[in-house]
Amino acid sequence: MRKLNNLLVTGGMGFIGSNFIRVLLTMPSFVGRIINLDALTYAGNPASLSDIDKAFGNKRYFFERGSICDRAFIEEIFYKYAIDTVVHFAAESHVDRSILGPEAFIKTNVMGTFTLLDVARNAWRDTDGVLFHHISTDEVYGSLGKTGYFYENTPYDPRSPYSASKASSDHLVMAYHHTYGLPITLSNCSNNYGQYQFPEKFLPLMILNMIEGKPLPVYGDGKNIRDWLFVLDHVSAIWRILTQGRSGEKYNVGGENEWENIRLLNTLIGIVAKKAGLKRQAIEATITYVKDRPGHDRRYAIDCSKIKRELGWQQSVGFEEGLDQTVDWYLSRPDWIAQIRSGEYQNWITHNYTDR
Ligand code: NAD
Ligand code: TYD
Repeated sequence: MRKLNNLLVTGGMGFIGSNFIRVLLTMPSFVGRIINLDALTYAGNPASLSDIDKAFGNKRYFFERGSICDRAFIEEIFYKYAIDTVVHFAAESHVDRSILGPEAFIKTNVMGTFTLLDVARNAWRDTDGVLFHHISTDEVYGSLGKTGYFYENTPYDPRSPYSASKASSDHLVMAYHHTYGLPITLSNCSNNYGQYQFPEKFLPLMILNMIEGKPLPVYGDGKNIRDWLFVLDHVSAIWRILTQGRSGEKYNVGGENEWENIRLLNTLIGIVAKKAGLKRQAIEATITYVKDRPGHDRRYAIDCSKIKRELGWQQSVGFEEGLDQTVDWYLSRPDWIAQIRSGEYQNWITHNYTDR
């Protein structure tokens, strides 16, 4: 098992990164330090880790605000904390935003990843035991028809500015391994869901709109398919890769859990109605079919047999249980919701496809 001492987590104030940090710091098998580097864009919320900051701040947990595009800053962090492992989550992560404004995606996802890789290459010259793990998405593989799966060797075919920027960053990661021998691993995962997800993404957006009696905007015919993965199952997959993964390898991580959007929405309505004491029919009446997302990928489905076979990973949370926990969490955290909505979220809702 690989040992991690000084772990740099980029984008740790976001959805997946904050879940990852919380799990690691409360897990007996991890004894190292975590340095959370985050620019605090609209998607980064310090409230997501206030409990962790209280318990571990300036002992085993350190927060550094800054951008992965700022080379001098990244260099300083590498030397200050003697970083031996990077888990790179930081990104612009929302497809709709990438359609409306691609530039930030190229800057952070492409140039930011390049900057991190290049600093790591220089800082880690002749150093053993180091690892750069890059978090990517199944969206780099394009869109599937009714059948078939994405495998690790499926050719890249990104179709949105978001997925194109992630594909580009994946290629850079692989190139740094092949050209300079940088020890890397890469994972491509399907749609995550769970606590602390920013309410621009499908599930939290729908949960909050239901509670507030707002329209539920369904893009196109509602029959696009996504493969849903519970965020804590994703975290356990990353841990396996960090400790047992082979350098130079990529691993697909998925939920093996495909749902048409409209079917998922109807299931979610049942759960929210019950838990929030609302009438199911009243919520159903707010479903609103809106203009489709341009270039909307039809279906994603991951084959994750490699990580199961090679690293012994598997999903541990059933979808019903995961949805239940997620709805409970959003119902119990009005403080977190108010905080995340106090910023740029206000501008975002006026740009949604519902207005077209
Ligand atoms: P998120 O949008 O919730 O969080 C992104 C975080 O990155 C935020 O805290 C933000 O402040 C930070 N950030 C953005 N630009 C930065 C910059 N220039 N410098 C430093 N920090 C910056 O994203 P997420 O959903 O947690 O996704 C994390 C990673 O996982 C991303 O790389 C994303 O592409 C990938 N991914 C996400 C999903 C999903 O379903 N959410 C699925 C597959 C892959
Ligand atoms: P999203 O959460 O944006 O993830 P991604 O596009 O990266 O898969 O969207 C999930 C699915 O839900 C996708 O098919 C688009 C659809 N969708 C809606 O129908 N309405 C919405 O308001 C949103 C945000 C998404």
